This record gives sequence, C-alpha cells and structure tokens, in this order.
Amino acid sequence: MDLFLLFIATLLAMIIINILFKYFFANPKEKNTLVPPGTFGLPIIGETIHFLVSLYYGLVHEFVQERTKKYNSNVFKTSILGQKVVVFSGPNANKFIFTRGNKLLIGWRPNSVQKLFPSTSFVPIEHDTKRAQNVMSYFLNSQNVETLINTMDYMSHTHLENHWKGNNEVIVYDLVKLFTFILSIRVFMGIENSDKILNLYEKFNIFSRGLLVLDINFPGTTFYKAMKVGKELRKEMKAIIEKRRKELLENPNLSKVDVLTQVINEKDENGKCMSEVEMIDKLFGFIIGSYHTTGTAITLIMKYLEEKNEFFNDIVQEQNEISRNMMPREVLCWNDIQKMKKTWNFVNEVLRDTPILQGTFREVVEDITYDGFLIPKGWKIYLSVGATQKNGEYFPNPTKFDPSRFEGNGLVPYTSIPFGGGQKMCPGKEFARIMILVFLHHVLKKFRWEAKVPSEKILCPFFLVPVPTNGYPVTLYNV
Ligand code: HEM
Repeated sequence: MDLFLLFIATLLAMIIINILFKYFFANPKEKNTLVPPGTFGLPIIGETIHFLVSLYYGLVHEFVQERTKKYNSNVFKTSILGQKVVVFSGPNANKFIFTRGNKLLIGWRPNSVQKLFPSTSFVPIEHDTKRAQNVMSYFLNSQNVETLINTMDYMSHTHLENHWKGNNEVIVYDLVKLFTFILSIRVFMGIENSDKILNLYEKFNIFSRGLLVLDINFPGTTFYKAMKVGKELRKEMKAIIEKRRKELLENPNLSKVDVLTQVINEKDENGKCMSEVEMIDKLFGFIIGSYHTTGTAITLIMKYLEEKNEFFNDIVQEQNEISRNMMPREVLCWNDIQKMKKTWNFVNEVLRDTPILQGTFREVVEDITYDGFLIPKGWKIYLSVGATQKNGEYFPNPTKFDPSRFEGNGLVPYTSIPFGGGQKMCPGKEFARIMILVFLHHVLKKFRWEAKVPSEKILCPFFLVPVPTNGYPVTLYNV
C-alpha cells in the first residue's frame, strides 16, 4: 500500500514538475498556446449566417459587442465564411492591427474578389496600399489639389443645376452615386463623354455586386454576371490605357495629371512599371473604392442633416460665411475646405454612427500572439469598426448623435477609424473629404429638402455599403 501511495505521489510530482517546467522554461511561443475564447459554431457554417444577417442590417457591432461581453475579452474566435476568424475591437486591438506592418498580417480577399481581380494571383497584397497611396499622394500634392477642388466645384455645381434644379422630388442616393461615379471617372481617367460614362456606370454596378457573393460561376448567378461584365470592362480599360500611353509617348509633358497617368508611370523600388492586368485592377480598385463609399456617405450625411436638424443652422451658417468671404471669387479653394470644421465634425459623427465599411479582414501570415492569446498562421482577423466607434468607454453616451465629440484633440487614438488606420489607411481619405465637403457646400447653397419616407431604414445590400432602403427620396425646395 505504501509502495502504491509512493508511486502515485511520484507520478503526481512528475506531472506537476512537467507542467511547471513547460510553463517557465518553454519558449514564449509554446507558452501562449491559448487561442482566444469563443466558438466555431456549427460545422462548416460556423456563425456565418448570424454574421451576414448582422452585416446586412448594419449591426455587426452588436454581433461583436454581445460576444466581447459574453467572453469578457476584446478578442474572440468564431468561424465565418468557412474561415477560422478572430474578431478584434477596441483601440489597443486596432492599433495592433494597423501598426503590425505587412509581414505578419496581410489584407484578406474572399475568393470572389480574387477571381474578379486577376492580378491578386501574382501581386502580393501588401504592395497594394503602398502603390495606391503613392498614386493618390502625387495627385493631391499642393499644386494639383487646387485643380482637383476646381474640378469638383465645377462638377458639383453643374450636376445640381442639371439633375436637381427644377425637380420637386429626387432620389438622393441614385443621383449622388451617379455623380460620384462621373466625378471619379473624369478625375481618375479624364473621360468626359456622357454616353461612355453611363455605359461604364451600368457595368461597374454589375461588377461590384459580384464582390462579396459566393463565387459560383454559373449562368444566371450574380458572380457569373460580374465575371462576364468584368471581361468587357477589362477590354475597354486596356484600350483606354493604350491610348493614354500613346499620348504620353508623343507628348511627355502632357498636362493630364490624373490617376490613369500615375498608374502608368508608377514604378516599384526596382524601377519596374506595373503589368497591364495590375494597372487595370488598380483602376478598378480606385473607381469602386471611390464612388460607392463617397456616394453613400453624401446620401447619409444629407439624411442625418435633415433628421438631426438641431445642427442644421450651424452648418449652413459656416457654409454661408465661407461663401461671403470668398467674394468676388466664386470657386472654392483649399483654404475654404480647411475652414469647414463644423461641417467636417458633423460628417465624422455620421461616419461614427453609421460606418461606411463595417469592418476589414486580415490574414495571419505567421503565428502571432495578442494579449496572451495565440492566433495561428492561416487564421483570419476581422476588425470591427462599429464595435469600437459605438463603445461607451471611448464615446460616452454612444447612441447620442453629437458632432462636438470631434472638436479639439480629445479622441483616444485608434477609436475613430472609418477610413482604417496605419499603413493600410484608405488611400482615398483626403480625396473623399474634399469631394464630400465641396458637394455639401453646393447642395446647401442651393436647396433644402424633406424626406418622403420618414425614418427610412438603412441596410447593406450585397454586404457592401449602407444605403437607405428607398434611396432616400426627398422633396426639394430652392433656397
Ligand atoms: C467615405 C469614403 C470612404 C471610406 C469610408 C473609405 C474607407 C476605407 C476603408 C475602411 C478601407 C480599408 C482599410 C483597411 O483595410 O484597413 C479602404 C480601402 C481603400 N480605399 Fe477607401 N474609403 C473611402 C473613399 C475612398 C476613395 C474616394 C477612394 C479612391 C480615391 C478609395 C480607395 C480605396 C482603396 C484603393 C482601398 C484599398 C487599399 C488597399 O489595397 O489596401 N476610398 N477605404
């Protein structure tokens, strides 16, 4: 009996020593073998249905907040779209993702995106943002930015005169999305022919619908239609690139400073230009990234301006003052944009309350640890924009619409992230800011409006961007 007890005691001691040894002397990677709390849900389906329904209703932040509360952790694991995913929220988690560089975390593209953008098979994703930022920064330098504002000013004015004036009613989203498309196409590629633009518009709308759907390439499916129209668009883009290349060869001092010229001239660190497939994908990325997001942002801002009318007069006053001080100059300039502080705070509060992109995905390239948890190689990370932006810890009374949150320098870093942050910050942020402010200046100068569908719901069709269900139809009044 004594011998048996001795045997058990020795066994227990060995187990304890083994555990302690592993804990204190194992290398740090082995020590942190605890993956984040959470559940992978049902086999294969995981929590996809719940996640996609939340995405459709613009409520991903609730999906995330429920679980962070349940697991008492800012990171938790789940399974979405057949992938093992760790969901991140909160400023520390955001900072971790935005400042990790491109070595450990890379952007993740669903299969549908990879197939619609063929260059993704040979261009490392980490090259994307840098190249896009290079293209945009040149485009927005101090000399070119005044030309850009000039064009935006002229186009906003003529769009409102031609499509809004004289109508008692308009569907804001339809008109604004068309406007942001025409502006993007003209500014990025110098195309002015209306028929050509309208034809491209139809095609880009079909193409975009295929971005976040199952990649079933079978006649009749949304993805099939997107792939089909993608081929046609590629042919047209190829011709546009060839024409511009020829123009640039014949006249190297050509004054066309636009994204098309930049994409053609952009070289990597070895002086190598992009391949044609990559150029086309870049142009597609800019166009799609630009018109959907900014079109929806302007629509939502106009809706909020009408619904939160306690802020309306202040904003009109700011815009009127800018108009008065401009005289006799009629076109907005960079200094005027800088003065639109109240208007921009209002825009920021709209983007906090209804983020245009509810979140962004990354792929883990090597095992990483965050907050003591292991996130294994190959897993995906989903960063929820809304879960941070609607967290009372960083935005007191988060359901209250309050643009004054953005006054001064009071915000905790990495809490307001509608454009992402760090190295993968949206390359079009400044372009979007100018486009939104210039358009608002003109629409407020010319019109007042009233919703035809009170408290119209906002949903995210095709899981892309939030849109009022009826497109925000309004009755228009001239100022
Ligand atoms: C209100 C307007 C906009 C919002 C809210 C927005 C937001 C975002 C966000 C959140 C990302 C992802 C960042 C990440 O993955 O961490 C992104 C990426 C991107 N945006 Fe925007 N964006 C807007 C307008 C624009 C405009 C006007 C352009 C074009 C000029 C643009 C071009 C892009 C591109 C090309 C990317 C992908 C960059 C990459 O490959 O990493 N965006 N945007």
